[in-house]
Amino acid sequence: MTQQAVRVQPSFDANVATAVSQLLGTVVTELTALQINGKQAHWHVRGKNFLAVHELFDALVDHAHEWTDLAAERVVALGLPVDARLQTVAAQTQSAKLTAGFVPADQIIREVLAQIDVALAAVTRAVTGLGEIDPASQDVSIEIQRGLEKDRWFIYAHIAEA
Ligand SMILES: [Fe+2]
Repeated sequence: MTQQAVRVQPSFDANVATAVSQLLGTVVTELTALQINGKQAHWHVRGKNFLAVHELFDALVDHAHEWTDLAAERVVALGLPVDARLQTVAAQTQSAKLTAGFVPADQIIREVLAQIDVALAAVTRAVTGLGEIDPASQDVSIEIQRGLEKDRWFIYAHIAEA
């Protein structure tokens, strides 16, 4: 039986891989920041909706963790590295600093929504930018967008007036 040659490198176009790594790399950065700040919010929310908001923030962190992995591994599958080191994420994230210490629910919800919106902006840029470049990577972005928009709704509903 003849042995088949095994590819040792992915065969994707280098320009495609670079574009994917730039767009999904930003998604990785912002979702990593969201995991960290989401936990901070989970621990420090106060007020009468404590339990519901506390648990929602934990669900958000869990989802952000899964989506970070999804985006990062798409880049790595195309043969390029990602840089989600602590210092890199801290230097590159566009998200604002959360208020330190215990924070009333309404305020911390608004702060977390702002963090979600920064991540969503990166995800939306990936969805828009990847459609013509790599549909599989766009699909990854769309999955993240759909989930993050759902989490945003669940959290926003606590401060919505109607
Ligand atoms: Fe916890």
